[in-house]
Amino acid sequence: MSAIQDVRVGTAGSVPLRRALPRLLRSPLDALVGFADEAGGEVVRLSFGTFRPYLVAHPEHLQHVLRDNAANYVRDGKGLLWRPVRRAVGDAILVAEGPRWSSSRDVLQPLFTAKRVETLVDGMAVAIGEAVDVLNEPARTEQAVDANEALSRIVCQATMRVLFADKISVPDAVRVVAALGTIATAMVPRLLVPFMPYAIPMPGDRAFRDAVQTIDDVVLPIIRETMRQPSDSPDIISTLCRPRSVDGQEVTEQQIRDDVVAMISTSTETTIAVLSWLWPVLERYPDVAGRLYDEIDRVVGAGPIQRSHIAELQYTRMVLDELLRLYPAGWMIPRTAVASETLGRTRIPSGATVLVSPYVTQRMAAFWDDPEIFDPERFAPTAPRRQHRYSFFPFGGGPHQCLGQYLFLLEAPLIIATLLSRFRIQLRGNADLTPRMGASLRPRQNAQLTLVPVDRSHAG
Ligand code: HEM
Repeated sequence: MSAIQDVRVGTAGSVPLRRALPRLLRSPLDALVGFADEAGGEVVRLSFGTFRPYLVAHPEHLQHVLRDNAANYVRDGKGLLWRPVRRAVGDAILVAEGPRWSSSRDVLQPLFTAKRVETLVDGMAVAIGEAVDVLNEPARTEQAVDANEALSRIVCQATMRVLFADKISVPDAVRVVAALGTIATAMVPRLLVPFMPYAIPMPGDRAFRDAVQTIDDVVLPIIRETMRQPSDSPDIISTLCRPRSVDGQEVTEQQIRDDVVAMISTSTETTIAVLSWLWPVLERYPDVAGRLYDEIDRVVGAGPIQRSHIAELQYTRMVLDELLRLYPAGWMIPRTAVASETLGRTRIPSGATVLVSPYVTQRMAAFWDDPEIFDPERFAPTAPRRQHRYSFFPFGGGPHQCLGQYLFLLEAPLIIATLLSRFRIQLRGNADLTPRMGASLRPRQNAQLTLVPVDRSHAG
């Protein structure tokens, strides 16, 4: 069923299967970028057997789909493709539309305003500092540090402290994040054959069930306790547990559980994924590494990092933007067309799947010079303005625009500056910049790191 038949480009015809298939097999993401580039920004019709989505890549079309006519391009959480996702996080804020979505978005949004997030910075800096302290010992004894493990712990500690008011312990949060990772892998066979009934066992089913159980064992007792004793605390769990109704029906424990799990997932996984690219990038681009270390030494010194440092970490921010351009965690944003309409030169029929991908557009030669090169200078304050807002949209856009964007842009510099003010970080092995597709986009290889403590005894 999933054989690729042809790739239709705009109205100009199709890329023959014999040309498309080897490219898709070698590197599916780069193949998508290639098809979009070759179509000159026109809509690309992909054909994977019965699954025939439209890839929309031109910034003007993206603005139309995500923002201007968002009501016509909905997240179809009911579709077959979403079924395994729904079994993990139900109809949560990340998947839903309509009143179910707007109710959750309305209660969560006040937690993520710029003003509120600013107040979280000091707490985040302390939590990150504590989590990084644990690395002093492996650094001193020159032991390898597993990048994924270290980042998971740092991000969980920061997130649980400021967003979840420590209602979930860091070890439990790390277990939940690992279980979510298991779910993302275990659901792949089901995604490949979405029509297979659940009565027929498939590889991954058991791991999937066990992971859901692990998550429920952690979150359900906390949710029940918080529902029993509602409070005004501005953390995610207390906020979601306050009584409210959707379409006249009281929000259920299951719905709260789904939103809580979705928020744990999105507030940790995306940040870990983006930062996991930093180590291979710094190894591959020593000039970038040199400038980054210089800036952090100058601004933060021996630390600890202060809130006022963040605005001065201008190059760090440029590096982050370039990481988000080349390795956007939310690499695929699927939508379903409600009514048919013409986009550019292509007619999109009602019910069609429309794929929008920050990864694709942000690597197209039509919108970026030398798109494959990691060059933070593109984001220098003095660089020419980009032509279109939607040529760079790692946080999506329109009504579903990421709630955590501002938080990420404060949390990530805190993590980078805390780590690099204390250690020079070297990769054990070669820098591999090949992405592995999953719930988010991570390097194919999980890096093993050597941390060399910074000797500041000679600092003037
Ligand atoms: C680098 C980090 C992140 C990236 C690249 C990212 C990306 C995105 C994207 C592309 C969307 C749009 C999805 C769609 O249109 O269907 C989105 C939505 C969302 N993000 Fe993020 N995100 C990041 C971090 C975060 C964090 C830290 C949080 C929470 C603390 C968060 C919470 C959300 C929520 C709740 C939504 C759903 C909004 C809605 O549908 O109304 N994200 N994110």
